[in-house]
Amino acid sequence: MFEQTEIVKILCVDDNVESLELLEALLVPKGFKVKLARDGKTALSIIEVYHPDIILLDVVMPYMDGYEVCKKIKGNDKTKNIPVIMVTVLRSKEDRIESIEAGAEDFISKPVDAHEILARIKMLVRAKEAEEGFVYAIYALARAAEVNDEDTGNHILRLGEYCAVIARQLGMSEGYIKAIRLQSVLHDVGKLHIPPNILKKPGKLTEEEQKIIREHTLFGAKIIGEHARFAIGKAGALTHHEKWDGSGYPYGMKGEEIPIEGRIIIIADSYDAIRNKRVYKPPYDHKTACDIITKGDERLMPCHFDPKVLAAFKETEGLFEKIYEQIKDKT
Ligand SMILES: [Fe+2]
Repeated sequence: MFEQTEIVKILCVDDNVESLELLEALLVPKGFKVKLARDGKTALSIIEVYHPDIILLDVVMPYMDGYEVCKKIKGNDKTKNIPVIMVTVLRSKEDRIESIEAGAEDFISKPVDAHEILARIKMLVRAKEAEEGFVYAIYALARAAEVNDEDTGNHILRLGEYCAVIARQLGMSEGYIKAIRLQSVLHDVGKLHIPPNILKKPGKLTEEEQKIIREHTLFGAKIIGEHARFAIGKAGALTHHEKWDGSGYPYGMKGEEIPIEGRIIIIADSYDAIRNKRVYKPPYDHKTACDIITKGDERLMPCHFDPKVLAAFKETEGLFEKIYEQIKDKT
């Protein structure tokens, strides 16, 4: 048995009682907490309340087969990060491809080999823990950057969700959506370099102070650095104040010269800034926020946004309101 920090919960799904009993007899003595389900529908309702760490899923089942169950797990935001191992007598290449297309993390053949299944579970638990640690560290860094900023509350959490909504509406891949949801939270990390008295200044900023604040984009890109896995976060930090008409900073980029991350974050960031209190303005309601983004005010103009991203915002503004309400700051 490998070392575990917490008890790992496993849900086994199979229409065959003997197969389920076999898995239970194998896993329980190894310290796993095991739940069993004999069909897809039961499995889905158990997942909702039990939140397993791993799901062992039989492919051939009556009513709803394993592929369909897997697609439902992966299509639900609350359950999509739970690793799924497909367990089946099917061995063909097509079956493996179908498993991958359904979103399964792994695939093992029946009859189940005890060593093999324990090794796969161990690997997936480690990968899940590493991913959770990675995500946690990114949020910690993003929160550190907010320490001297205005009262930003859950701003970074909402921003990630808005960016994911826009990216999905634009037809981006699931991988891209996942990456921008996470990495966009680092867009203002460069503020770590900006003196607190400038970030917190209540009145109008001097030209020199504005120049200093604008450098948070360059510093952000520098902090995030060159790792290929952070390319989206870096591009977003660098270009989230660039405007489609070329009037933004730090480079005055225009149109599609601006990376798509920057074009998405600017609209998400604008919506959240409008909804919240800022030193220069009171908080506004959803409708006013939509009016300002689509018609403009003294600070924003629709020509600041990529027309395609603006159209995606218009299509999904209801979701923006929902996200704002769900991840609202406590007052
Ligand atoms: Fe910024």
